[in-house]
Amino acid sequence: MKVPERVRWAVGGLGLRGDERVLEVGGGPGVSAGLICAALTTGRLLAVDRSPTATRATTERNAPHVEAGRLQVLRRALADLDAADVAAALGDRADVALAVDVNVFWVDDAPVEAAVLHRVLGPGAVLHVLYGAGGPTPPDRVVPRVRAALGAAGFVDLADVVEEPGFGVRARRP
Ligand SMILES: C[S@@+](CC[C@H](N)C(=O)[O-])C[C@H]1O[C@@H](n2cnc3c(N)ncnc32)[C@H](O)[C@@H]1O
Repeated sequence: MKVPERVRWAVGGLGLRGDERVLEVGGGPGVSAGLICAALTTGRLLAVDRSPTATRATTERNAPHVEAGRLQVLRRALADLDAADVAAALGDRADVALAVDVNVFWVDDAPVEAAVLHRVLGPGAVLHVLYGAGGPTPPDRVVPRVRAALGAAGFVDLADVVEEPGFGVRARRP
């Protein structure tokens, strides 16, 4: 499967060193999971998606990473993810989290989802909530709503991202 430009951009923007504990929410078919795992050495990825089709595809596409213990795939709505799920997969809270084209952060106020991310990320962790460019909704409708949702949950250092391949917000968990 061809890697969509937004996915390559979003994963590249994580700046992974290789040892991070990464949480991805809503990875869909698992193309991003493959790129993330390829950038990990001692690190691990927990890929969470509420869709059984997505989790199946992610597992199948990335079978060698699952077998190597680098990737765990979990079918779960973000609102239902708890700290024990993350600790079981990653051994601790996450250092980095990513969501690409997951609309809950701007179509709703997403207080539960943002609070879950705050809970399962460790201090200093960076959260990337990003959207591919070229969709029907322009950045100026999306970015302020994502920023508000993350700010209300206690994330800090909120940085708007508006680049050619996509847009969104990067934030730090204090
Ligand atoms: C539009 S697709 C994007 C897939 C991939 N990130 C990409 O950019 O190609 C959104 C994905 O997020 C998942 N998703 C949406 N809301 C979710 C939620 N609240 N909790 C977990 N997964 C969610 C959907 O099941 C779907 O797989």
